[in-house]
Order: sequence, then structure tokens, then C-alpha cells
Amino acid sequence: MRLLLSIGFAAGGLLAVGTAVQLAPTAAEAQPAGPPISFTDQQARQGRGVYGGCESCHGGDLLGLDGGPALVGEGFARRFNDSPAELFTFIKDNMPADLPGSLTPASTAAVMAYILQSNGFTAGADPLSSDPAVLATQSYPPHTQVP
Ligand code: HEC
Repeated sequence: MRLLLSIGFAAGGLLAVGTAVQLAPTAAEAQPAGPPISFTDQQARQGRGVYGGCESCHGGDLLGLDGGPALVGEGFARRFNDSPAELFTFIKDNMPADLPGSLTPASTAAVMAYILQSNGFTAGADPLSSDPAVLATQSYPPHTQVP
């Protein structure tokens, strides 16, 4: 029990730090509906590889090209007001636009982790779920906006 309590306090401390460095007013207004998602650094690294199939349209730096919109910055941040399940399902069903439906659930979670990291979310201990039903019960944690 004591262990559980100290984990609770540690998580509270981390949340407080996350709130203090938060810069995006839109994210501050969003009221998380469930426990925050997490993703691992390893997932984000794998996702960087998956992103090789997205670069031609979204750009090497995720800032967008003629073929596709930016996947970072203020315009994209509206995505974080929705359930994490929405972004996952959108990518899984529609991307890459020239071969929709070709990503496995695991690759979708990995590339989403890479996009989240690129948007200022910090990797954690737990992997991002590749099950939209689980993601639908979770929310985005506060994060630092990347331009
Ligand atoms: C052939 C070009 C092309 C490729 C390749 C491609 N996309 Fe896209 N993507 C688009 C276009 C065009 C849109 C905007 C249309 C739309 O939202 O349906 C888009 C939209 C998106 C969005 C939503 C953007 C927003 O502002 O909400 C995400 C997320 C996304 N793509 C992720 C990916 C990922 C991840 C990959 C690689 C696995 C990928 N795309 C590969 C063309 C592409």
C-alpha cells in the first residue's frame, strides 16, 4: 500500500511539472477525460522508420509539403483536443494516402508515437496502445508546444 501511495505522489509531481512548462493555451483548456496516454522512446524510434513512408508528402521535418499538411505545430495541435483514438484510427485507415490501410496496428502506434514526440510530448515507461478501444478511454497529457 505504501508503495502504491508513493507512486501516486510521484505521478502527481510529474503532472505538476508538466503543467508548469506547458505553453499551449489550447492544451490547457482541454479537459482530459481519462488517464493520460504514454509511449516509449523505442516506439518513437521505430516510428521514425515508419515515417520514411510519409516523408514524401509530409516532409522530413513534419512541417508539410505540397503533398500533405504539417504534422507538428499549432494547426495540427487541434488533434490533441480529441480522443487519442481518433488520430490513431485516422492514420490507420487513411495513411499513407497512396496506400491506405497498409499500416499494421503496431506500426500505426509507432508512427503516432513519433508524431507525438515531435509535437513535444515526452516518452514514458508504458507503450502506446495499438488498440483504438483502449485509446478511446485515454487522453493526451499536457505538453510543450513545438512550432
Ligand atoms: C501520398 C501523400 C501522403 C502520404 C505518403 C502520407 N500522407 Fe498523410 N496526408 C496526406 C494528405 C493529402 C492529407 C490531408 C488530407 C486529409 O486530412 O485527409 C494527410 C493528412 C494526414 C494527417 C492528418 C493531418 C491533420 O492536420 O489532421 C495525418 C496525421 C497523416 N496524414 C499522417 C500520415 C502518416 C503517419 C503517413 C505515413 C504512414 C502519411 N500521412 C503518409 C498525404 C499523405
